[in-house]
Amino acid sequence: MCGIVGYVGQKTAKPYLLDGLKRLEYRGYDSAGLALFSEKDYVIKRNAGPVQGLADATLDSGQRETMGIAHTRWATHGAPNETNAHPHRAGDLVLVHNGIIENYSEIKDRLTKTGVRFSSQTDTEVFAQLIEFHRRKIQDQQPNLSAEDILISALETSMKEVDGHYAILLMARSVPGKIFGVQNGAPLVASPLKGGCLIASDIQAIIPYHNEVCFLPKGEILVAENGKFWTRAPGSSALHAPKLERMDWTADKVEKDGFDSFMLKEIFQQPLVVADTLSGRLPAKEHEPFIWDHQKAHEVLWKNVKKLYLIACGTSYHAALISKYFFEKWAKIDCEVDIASEFRYRSPVLAPGTVVGVISQSGETADTLAALRLANAAGASTFSICNVPSSTIARESGFQYPTKAGPEIGVASTKAFTAQLTVLCTLALDVGRLRGHLDLASFRALARLPHDLDRVLGQSETFIKIGEKLKDRRMVLFVGRGTMYPMALEGALKMKELTYLPSEGFAAGELKHGPIAYIDKDITVVTLAPKDDWYSKTLSNLEEIRARGGHIIAIGSETDEQIKRQCLSGGDEFIGLPESAWGTQPILSVVPLQLLAYGCAKALGRNIDKPRNLAKSVTVE
Ligand code: G6P
Repeated sequence: MCGIVGYVGQKTAKPYLLDGLKRLEYRGYDSAGLALFSEKDYVIKRNAGPVQGLADATLDSGQRETMGIAHTRWATHGAPNETNAHPHRAGDLVLVHNGIIENYSEIKDRLTKTGVRFSSQTDTEVFAQLIEFHRRKIQDQQPNLSAEDILISALETSMKEVDGHYAILLMARSVPGKIFGVQNGAPLVASPLKGGCLIASDIQAIIPYHNEVCFLPKGEILVAENGKFWTRAPGSSALHAPKLERMDWTADKVEKDGFDSFMLKEIFQQPLVVADTLSGRLPAKEHEPFIWDHQKAHEVLWKNVKKLYLIACGTSYHAALISKYFFEKWAKIDCEVDIASEFRYRSPVLAPGTVVGVISQSGETADTLAALRLANAAGASTFSICNVPSSTIARESGFQYPTKAGPEIGVASTKAFTAQLTVLCTLALDVGRLRGHLDLASFRALARLPHDLDRVLGQSETFIKIGEKLKDRRMVLFVGRGTMYPMALEGALKMKELTYLPSEGFAAGELKHGPIAYIDKDITVVTLAPKDDWYSKTLSNLEEIRARGGHIIAIGSETDEQIKRQCLSGGDEFIGLPESAWGTQPILSVVPLQLLAYGCAKALGRNIDKPRNLAKSVTVE
């Protein structure tokens, strides 16, 4: 899950490369590098640390080259240092790579025996050396071939030998003026600019410059030069004009707008995001259908559904877990939720009538994509809930129920989660309506949601201040029942992602089966306590925590005087949220959870948008 970018054209390449890397930094930020083609050779600069370090290091070098490739890394093979940073050079070639080469060690052994020497621990250098090895061999065997044909033939031979999931860009000294790219399961996007061509691992690096892009088909080779590019299918010398698609994102959506971090901005965007996601979809009258592209989906997905699988990773998995409660209660559908990296390696039974829904902000998460492919191959009906409509998952799923959160840059997901819950809530309500059940209270609460979220955000200062006080706690636990159980998992995930403090989420009913052993005066237990069917049980949990000296932050209803009084008189904290229907409660309660983590992380001096060791889009398995 690295970011790669390339430029070839009439303008200076470096600004495009550095700007692209900054926009792709959410994918990985432990080291960065670039290679510019200069006269007859490369200038390569690599740096441990974030892209800014690379930008500073290359600031006054006076390089004006019009072609180059660049990389921002999330280390998989080899420590995040300068030696392992990309680009990697192998003889005539220089290469950047996003993904994983699974059989790299076998290939490395083989090449080492032929005398190839490696300077890094990366799988990427192995790929570069393999292509160079074949390039030399083909050059010796067929000296009459053009340098470009030799390179392409070497690339094709290497692709057959390499197992993995990757996208690469490469330049060759023997073929000046061209950048070559291939992808095998990791996206590569190219766009024609005026007098240039920009290529990247995703559209974030391209949209500031142009909104027409080509998604390179798997296995095809991209050949880009001054202002034009072509693709060619493996084994064929015919060049195809790229199929361009128009994107509706604009660059101005990826600025901080005065907030100290993208994450804080994204938290505050949530009322708008929910309104956008609902826009045009809520029916005018309660008994009319929601306005999804539903006619066909109803026939294929929902009319005869017997079982629903929801599959995702990370925060998206928590959205899936919450919606299990929705689909069971409203639509009376047998619903199973699984982590993509588990589902894909089990032998899930996908009997006729099984519908598989995958949820992914990025639409590129490797395990989620593999789970979708497994479901498609097994003949299940599939749908996706993605935030990037052009993503691989969105494009490979049978039906799409898109979220409209806009680009999410903060690594810890916030507004995309809210948008996912909004889609899942409307979808489950609507499928419930189709199957003869309508929860009117939740339906009405949906329409009020942007307004209610605004009210919750009105207390943001308070949430942040409470969060700041958590910085010296030994551990933060999160507990809840029903839909608030997955919310507890999400609260704990936000806390650990941002602060690196030990934090865990539990079903409140499980507290006494183990987690209660943690509790003492140095532990805070964030208790999700809405006025729902399990309210009295939650009150008992609060007593159990108090009796063991634990510090409590209770998140409940603003009208709940009982919990409020108990908390405030005992030195604990109380957060009151607007009364809401059962289906929309989770969407309101996520806001304080996000801001508690934010406040604590700020107090600890953490990097809010780029927590250590994490990446936004996990395109490796
Ligand atoms: C990474 C991100 C998380 C995200 C998860 C799933 O771990 O850091 O924020 O929830 O991937 O990503 P997806 O794009 O599939 O929702």
